[in-house]
Amino acid sequence: MLGPVILAASRSDKMRRIVSAAPVTKPVVDRFIPGETVDQVVPIVTDLADKGLEVTLDVVGEDITTPEQATAARDAYLELIRHLEPLGLGEKAEMSVKLSMFGQALEGGHELALANVRPVVEAAAAIGTTVTLDAEDHTTLDSMFAIHEELRKDFPQTGCVIQAYLFRTEEDARRLAANGSRVRLVKGAYKEPASVAHQDKAEIDRAYVRVLKTLMAGEGYPMIGSHDPRLIAITQELARRHGRKLDEYEFQMLYGIRSEEHVRLAAEGHRMRVYTAYGTDWYGYFMRRLAEKPANLLFFVRSMITK
Ligand code: FDA
Repeated sequence: MLGPVILAASRSDKMRRIVSAAPVTKPVVDRFIPGETVDQVVPIVTDLADKGLEVTLDVVGEDITTPEQATAARDAYLELIRHLEPLGLGEKAEMSVKLSMFGQALEGGHELALANVRPVVEAAAAIGTTVTLDAEDHTTLDSMFAIHEELRKDFPQTGCVIQAYLFRTEEDARRLAANGSRVRLVKGAYKEPASVAHQDKAEIDRAYVRVLKTLMAGEGYPMIGSHDPRLIAITQELARRHGRKLDEYEFQMLYGIRSEEHVRLAAEGHRMRVYTAYGTDWYGYFMRRLAEKPANLLFFVRSMITK
């Protein structure tokens, strides 16, 4: 019940001001977003790499309103790539981008987002790594998939995300699995209407398994973005059934969530990538993490009351 309310609040400017200004917010935010600057996040990347973990880095920020902000987003990723180069981690440190941050919702947004993301993908390839296009709300996805296809002509390693809760996803998965793409499968984190998405948690889980079967049977590289122990076990079973080796798929989890499981799966020989977000514009990302688990909200509210 609380999840949709929090997701609605994640779009409210008033709530953004209240939550961002609350003095107790910061320690709770730090659990999920461990840095505000590239200098703060680089040691975290190194630390995760030392534990045998890979990363995908997200410079937080969405809901931009001007082309200049979109250019600034591109530059923030280019700066990140300059900092990653000396670490020599190659594809063990890739990047996740939200096309909204690259101008997708502005006038002429499709072309603008493509123009801004291409140099990031080029710079990533130059240091031996790649970029995954995050999935945002359903109205943005036709444009995201078209940009993904365009980028893959020159950079076939470019990945994209599909969301199990959307009705369209089973068809998207079949297309992407057949053309050999890197694909991250997640349950879906946005507030979507019943006309386009499953609303029931059990139904979303069943859809996840159906899509997972398509990806694991296909030609592409599946990236299983979930903390759900049942889905991780099913992935391992499907990998056995389809004869996929340990480097022919990977698990991905969010920084700050089930961290002991990250290390356990990596120790078993799995590729485990930790989605690590950083930056100052953390509100949208933070609110989606609260919505996923109401206990996070209770912890947050309790710390506000006891302060
Ligand atoms: P589920 O929500 O059922 O959680 C399973 C268990 O994990 C819970 O019981 C709890 O223990 C733990 N858990 C999950 N979320 C938690 C939280 N916030 N705090 C504490 N514990 C938590 N979505 C999207 O729409 N577009 C995208 O591009 C991405 N990208 C993405 C990348 C990666 C690497 C991951 C892991 C997830 C995403 N997501 C996403 C988010 C995704 O859609 C989904 O909202 C979350 O992963 C939560 O779903 P789970 O599959 O973990 O299952």
